[in-house]
Amino acid sequence: MLPLFCGILLCFTGNTQGDSVLQNHSVFLTENEMASLYCQYETTSTAPGLFWYIQRDTKSPELILNNYSIRGNGYKEGLTAHLEKSDRTFNLKIAAAVLSDSATYYCALRPTLC
Ligand SMILES: *[C@@H]1O[C@H](CO)[C@@H](O)[C@H](O)[C@H]1NC(C)=O
Ligand SMILES: *[C@@H]1O[C@H](CO)[C@@H](O)[C@H](O)[C@H]1NC(C)=O
Repeated sequence: MLPLFCGILLCFTGNTQGDSVLQNHSVFLTENEMASLYCQYETTSTAPGLFWYIQRDTKSPELILNNYSIRGNGYKEGLTAHLEKSDRTFNLKIAAAVLSDSATYYCALRPTLC
């Protein structure tokens, strides 16, 4: 079983009233299993930025991707996230989990890009 842990990261930039993200706490997978890491956001911002970060061991979090198709160092083939405005989710999909995917994942919301 591969444990994936999810956390919450918020970037506070002034008016953050009512801004939050909701995530799964821990997800346990078997190798090659498909996974969807849940991220529901709540914000008063009209143009929030949504980001997925991965944190391995004691390293600092690395950007996987965000809602405007920018991929960071934490990106790898098979990771996708689509913004669903109707249910305000930005779930991260892992096509086939491998041992090295075992990490902490953060869904982050930025009311204004900071
Ligand atoms: C994550 O949480 C959501 C909402 O509580 C739930 O519907 C979903 O099945 C969970 N996903 C996993 C992989 O545990
Ligand atoms: C996603 O990204 C764009 C930046 O290109 C931003 O303007 C947009 O409002 C963002 N958020 C949502 C929820 O669509």
